[in-house]
Amino acid sequence: MTNQNPRRTSGLFIAFEGGDGAGKSTQAKLLSEALELRGHKVLRTREPGGTVVGEKLRSLVLDHGQGEIDARTEALMFAAARAAHVHQVILPALERGDVVLCDRYIDSSVAYQGVGRGLGADSVLDVNLWAVEGLRPDLTVLLDVEPHEGRGRRTAGNAAEDRLESEPDHFHEQIRDAFLDRASSAPELYLVLTAGKPIDELAQYILTAALERLA
Ligand code: TYD
Repeated sequence: MTNQNPRRTSGLFIAFEGGDGAGKSTQAKLLSEALELRGHKVLRTREPGGTVVGEKLRSLVLDHGQGEIDARTEALMFAAARAAHVHQVILPALERGDVVLCDRYIDSSVAYQGVGRGLGADSVLDVNLWAVEGLRPDLTVLLDVEPHEGRGRRTAGNAAEDRLESEPDHFHEQIRDAFLDRASSAPELYLVLTAGKPIDELAQYILTAALERLA
């Protein structure tokens, strides 16, 4: 399957990926502020979520106590939320020429459902590319985090862990490897950074990469 984005829009699509507690939302926020200061119109959003149906699916798939959710159902819920997000929010913004910063995208499904849940990376990738009619990010920022470090960071900030976060460390090890595999399959489309570096240093690398693509 080609890595070429089949849709050419005037906007720029950047996804933030990485394990839980990697600092994706902090970096997305910093990049958004830096780009806005330079006059760019930025839409910051997250998955699952970003639409009415997506937020409902988010609580169904992430909250504890929703009854049994088997792996395929889980994968399709994330994909359904993503389809709505792309068609209702992301594509219209890209068509207006905005910069879209998305906290998690297809690689999260490939890593968590494809590898973590054992559904197969290629099958999950195919289902998701169908759901979004092939829309891929122009750049994916991968914040690489050691699972125990990520767990430490997120439980320090917020004690409650969702259904996926509360999986054991070896699940999160597989997720980490899966993200790194995705990045090495198309290095020109990824910026891989060690999440433990100082926040400002990471922000500078990310801004430089974004500005290069906007030039
Ligand atoms: P996230 O929004 O990053 O968590 P938080 O609310 O703590 O910032 O993601 C929620 C969880 O959903 C996370 O554990 C990863 C998982 N997830 C998947 O398993 N598959 C997906 O496709 C996506 C987008 C998220």
